[in-house]
Amino acid sequence: MALLVPEIMLNDGTSIPQLGLGTYRLDDDIAYRVASEALELGYRHIDTATIYKNERGIGKAIRESGIPRDDLYITTKLWNGDQPHARDAISSSLDRLGLEHVDLYLIHWPAPERGTYVQAWHSLHELRDAGLTTSIGVSNFLTEHLDVLAGVADTVPVLNQVELHPLLQQKELRGEHVARGIATESWGPLGHGSVDLAVEAPILGIIAAAHDKSVAQVVLRWHVQEGLIVFPKTSHKERLIENLSIFDFELSDTEMDGIRGLDRDHRVGTHPLDGNWD
Ligand SMILES: NC(=O)c1ccc[n+]([C@@H]2O[C@H](COP(=O)([O-])OP(=O)(O)OC[C@H]3O[C@@H](n4cnc5c(N)ncnc54)[C@H](OP(=O)(O)O)[C@@H]3O)[C@@H](O)[C@H]2O)c1
Repeated sequence: MALLVPEIMLNDGTSIPQLGLGTYRLDDDIAYRVASEALELGYRHIDTATIYKNERGIGKAIRESGIPRDDLYITTKLWNGDQPHARDAISSSLDRLGLEHVDLYLIHWPAPERGTYVQAWHSLHELRDAGLTTSIGVSNFLTEHLDVLAGVADTVPVLNQVELHPLLQQKELRGEHVARGIATESWGPLGHGSVDLAVEAPILGIIAAAHDKSVAQVVLRWHVQEGLIVFPKTSHKERLIENLSIFDFELSDTEMDGIRGLDRDHRVGTHPLDGNWD
């Protein structure tokens, strides 16, 4: 099944499975169970973060899976308060995960009020050069933050992980990404558990019925056909299967356009300028 998931090429010559598992709001025990089930089902890409406090559970699932390390793609993220000491932060994450390196390390938020994301970006280069992470990128960065990074370093983030779903399609930012060679990851691809896309956008139900698929599958398929990287979170095994089963149908141009027309600039999560927490 894992073989069916396409790979997206990144600007540093590596590639990332386009579909993975999100793990926000899963504690260690549940993350262990869900990640174990996901790996068994064929997922090979897992997205976690220091702040999710589930790296231990995910690491245990990875170890027990017996899957060769090279077949897995593991992302974790540098928390805001750790921006001045990224080396210690990634070492602690790797200890909890039981890994020698992650595939991708992201600055979780620009946290502009803290004034330390540029320092963190320089540190991420050192972590990559030391082999602690293969690729480096950012999350929740606006164009103005990408501009700052472009002014201080030659390396372009491989990707930017931002809130993105049919009600918030980030078209302008995605245009900037394309121009700079940055891939886009969609967090909250199904609405972050905060908005019911089927209720907000009845067209999704009509498209789903036409393909004998669920609304979630149609939305995830839309992300994939848009060239986005997605990692929906679920704590239910049947939904792990459902979310992976999106590579056996295709949305037509008309259906894609219909979903593109749902964009309302409707953010359900925190605005990037406001994510300054410790
Ligand atoms: N960089 C950042 O700042 C940031 C912020 C937020 C999230 N993320 C990452 O992005 C991942 C995904 O985003 P998210 O967790 O916020 O939201 P999401 O994946 O859009 O939505 C998760 C919600 O959808 C439900 N769900 C999952 N599959 C479903 C299905 N097939 N049918 C119906 N409902 C379904 C889940 O419920 P059940 O669990 O009950 O199935 C949960 O309530 C996170 O887990 C995390 O890894 C990153």
